[in-house]
Amino acid sequence: MLQRVNEAKEVLLSNYQPSGFTIPSKGLYPFQWKWDAGFIAIGLAHFDIEKAKTEISTLLKAQWKNGMIPHIVFHTDTDTYFPGKDFHQSNLSKQANPDYPSTGMVQPPVLGFVLEKLLEIATDKKDMLAFIGEQLDKVYYNHEYFYTHRDVNQEGLAYIYHNWESGTDNSPMWDAIWETMDPPHYKFERRDTTHVDPEQRPTNREYDHYLHLIEIAKKYHYEDAKIAAHSPFLVLDPLFNALLIKSNESLLALYQKLGIDNQKTKNLRQWQEKAINAFNKKLWSPTHGAYVHYDLRNQKQLPYISSSSFAPLFAPIVPPEKLVALNQTFQEKFSAANLYCCASFDPTHNGFNPKRYWRGPVWINMNWIIYHGFKRAGAIQTANRIKEDSITLIEKYGFKEYFDPRKKLENTTEGGYGGDNFSWSAALYLDLIKA
Ligand code: GLC
Repeated sequence: MLQRVNEAKEVLLSNYQPSGFTIPSKGLYPFQWKWDAGFIAIGLAHFDIEKAKTEISTLLKAQWKNGMIPHIVFHTDTDTYFPGKDFHQSNLSKQANPDYPSTGMVQPPVLGFVLEKLLEIATDKKDMLAFIGEQLDKVYYNHEYFYTHRDVNQEGLAYIYHNWESGTDNSPMWDAIWETMDPPHYKFERRDTTHVDPEQRPTNREYDHYLHLIEIAKKYHYEDAKIAAHSPFLVLDPLFNALLIKSNESLLALYQKLGIDNQKTKNLRQWQEKAINAFNKKLWSPTHGAYVHYDLRNQKQLPYISSSSFAPLFAPIVPPEKLVALNQTFQEKFSAANLYCCASFDPTHNGFNPKRYWRGPVWINMNWIIYHGFKRAGAIQTANRIKEDSITLIEKYGFKEYFDPRKKLENTTEGGYGGDNFSWSAALYLDLIKA
């Protein structure tokens, strides 16, 4: 274990860039990603609190005028990643931050609970609270952005307009939406497949869909109302909204610690109440005994269970009767003895693929969320299993991007896939071994 602890720190330090942020993985992901930055800060906080703070403040400097925090900030100039800043062209938007080229989309809202976690880890609480005091309103404005510009029905739930906004990039979930689209066959050169076996990545046709959604957003200069009116992809994601609700809760706790009670905290309380009600009405599927995605464009739930279905456990969302059903679904589908917890997609479904990206493999950040979720719900045995499986996978295969959930593999050298020395796997390992 000690060896892995030192390695984890080395991974984070060697991915740290002099301009004050950490890349997710060398070669594959050369910029700053939003939710990665949050998880990375948690890991850094365990041994270099200043770098943890810098990770967050660097990201927040790139915030847009309307409060949006972009999914990727292109801090450096490199053409080794596709689609890069020349494809996304954030400068098409009047709201973009002219000093920080970025994508024109978001990623799951983790910063509220990350700041709360940093305070928990920090030994100098006064210093961390002062830092949080400087950053907190920016995170609040990000939440205000979601509830003002991303909530078409004003019901308390924020939509995503691209699968990359979900963080769970090529989940089989999105296949139902791809079937409603017929994008052109774009000419482009993938860079990811020069680093990783194409069998473990999305297909080129899937990329056509991804690029097409960006082209639509660009056509409307990234204006939210127009995207909401025209994007064929408009989804309420249970992971995304659960993290937003969890972060609302953290913002309220942090404002309270700072002795602040004002219009912002009042708004947060109102959003929170509305969001939790709508979440349980719109995203709960009695048929599946789980939370599912809702396709706003086609006005229907998407009938799939994934690791995102359990993220609500991490937030103040799940009422007792749903907790019983949700736990049962988890035990039936995700906790088989021959599988590591937790597959990213329903292992009993024929869309499950244990090797390909978000179509089945275990991701450490999802495990971290679900671990805390079951712990919060009082299901300590399940929580511990998730924690132990995460630690085992890393100790066995190293800091890979994602892992095969199958315990018995035909080829025993396999098991860890995607990018090497992956930052959030290292960061959350450092946190999980202390949890
Ligand atoms: C992949 C993941 C996404 C992550 C990014 C950088 O695109 O799907 O969730 O943020 O890599 O690590």
